[in-house]
Amino acid sequence: MLVQLTYASRTAGILGAIDVKDILTASKRNNALVGVTGALCLSNGIFLQQLEGDKTEVNALYHRLLRDERHRDPAILDFSEITQRRFGSWSMGLLSTLEENRQLFQKYSVTRDFDPYAMSIPSLRAFFSEVVDNVRWLG
Ligand SMILES: Cc1cc2nc3c(=O)[nH]c(=O)nc-3n(C[C@H](O)[C@H](O)[C@H](O)COP(=O)(O)O)c2cc1C
Repeated sequence: MLVQLTYASRTAGILGAIDVKDILTASKRNNALVGVTGALCLSNGIFLQQLEGDKTEVNALYHRLLRDERHRDPAILDFSEITQRRFGSWSMGLLSTLEENRQLFQKYSVTRDFDPYAMSIPSLRAFFSEVVDNVRWLG
């Protein structure tokens, strides 16, 4: 069964550019091996990640991520069966948080700063739909 899982977490300590690069490199390598695709964004000290793939693989990955000490306060925001992937060509894409995406983040935020924890499930889904088409990717 194909599913998507969306969660948020907060960065633990000071997360540098190298850490983010490490996360992305490991994600691309490991996800490709198990057929997981998705997108990751980091803004306002909060990670928001959508994972899609086989239910068992997505669950296993999420449980592995919970053990990563680079983030804390994980919360599943959305989990559902899907008929097709959004990020089929991205084993893990990282969204740029630069100016070009700021408007998109703000459009779906109920607060002034980007706060995925406070977003409704329909807003999250709309956000990721728009991400696929309109976002600048870092890698
Ligand atoms: C916010 C966040 C998102 C991550 N996303 C993934 C991911 O999608 N896939 C993955 O394999 N590792 C991801 N990681 C890294 C894993 O926790 C772990 O460090 C990595 O998978 C270890 O890979 P390795 O054993 O091949 O070195 C993520 C880490 C963080 C903090």
